[in-house]
Amino acid sequence: GIHPVILCGGSGTRLWPRSRADRPKPFLRLLGEQSLFEATLARCRDAARFAPPMVVTGARHVGLVEAQGHPGMRIVVEPDGRNTAPAIALAAALLPEDAVMLVCPSDHHIADVDAFRAAVDQAGALAGRGRLVAFGIAPDRAETGYGYIQRGAAIDGGYDVARFVEKPSEALARDFVASGEFSWNGGIFAFRAGTLLEELARHRPAMAQAVREAVAGGSDNGPRFHPSASFFAGIEGESIDYAVMENTDRAALVPVDMGWSDIGNWTALREAREGDEGGNVVRGAAELVDCRNVMVDSDGPRVSCIGLEDVIVVVDGDEVLVMRAEDAQKVGKLGGASG
Ligand code: GDD
Ligand code: MG
Repeated sequence: GIHPVILCGGSGTRLWPRSRADRPKPFLRLLGEQSLFEATLARCRDAARFAPPMVVTGARHVGLVEAQGHPGMRIVVEPDGRNTAPAIALAAALLPEDAVMLVCPSDHHIADVDAFRAAVDQAGALAGRGRLVAFGIAPDRAETGYGYIQRGAAIDGGYDVARFVEKPSEALARDFVASGEFSWNGGIFAFRAGTLLEELARHRPAMAQAVREAVAGGSDNGPRFHPSASFFAGIEGESIDYAVMENTDRAALVPVDMGWSDIGNWTALREAREGDEGGNVVRGAAELVDCRNVMVDSDGPRVSCIGLEDVIVVVDGDEVLVMRAEDAQKVGKLGGASG
């Protein structure tokens, strides 16, 4: 089966005040009964297709991972966050060379699980043939926080990658979207463990060497694996997108339409939630009169609004956030969110 490797690292300050340093975005129950992390595990829980998962996370989130995870998962504990390239390489170094890995961020929403699994099958086949496979999402705006992938020639089960550009400027992103030739990178990848390590050694030899040593010097503690902290500390942090995907000539693309959202801010969460006829979304106690496209999410006090449009109100304990939906990307700038 395919080996799910679930990355659990980021903080998600843009969903403050619901997300805080001690309860980051993957572990919040933002949509339905499951947290984003639980939903990620559930998508990869199908014995016909998947081996037991490996979760790569930082020391301070191990407790949350164990509380929300299930027995049978292996947990790789990073002494410090070094971004996604070292995290993925650690997992690769712990798996057999021929194992096909499916790297999954733990903080995305995927509405159509069947479409996801169909794409996993396609990507798994390409990965088995030595490709580094990215999942492509049709772009609907010139978002600069994503990677962009230009389609090359059609191949069996997907496309060659003509070009991979991580987090382009806004001008470039606009050109990419207008050209119709680019997909967003969904942040999900499939490759053989051996292929990933070969490409990392080619493009980031120092990182590949340090990861090898961190694994060789590491130790098991039940389901947890602890890489050697001293070797890991010497690694320079970099994402897989910059370290490998922009540089490799073995990349392939599987386009997929699966209701994908990385829930990057409160407005993205409003889009992913079901609204009423007026586009209003209410979680918790609220009364809305003459409102349109307003989201209220309160864990306590009852919120009453009159005559608002495109406004978001979040109440969490002793914190209240009120903003225009279009400003959702600025939440990380608030003192409360970064402190
Ligand atoms: N274990 C671990 N350690 N996980 C990490 C670390 C780390 O040091 N850093 C990030 N992660 C996890 C995050 O929790 C998230 O689930 C995933 O890896 C991706 O990291 P982000 O920091 O959210 O990346 P991004 O959003 O800037 O960009 C990536 O995702 C986009 C799609 O959402 C890139 O792959 C882009 O190309 C892509 O478009
Ligand atoms: Mg992200």
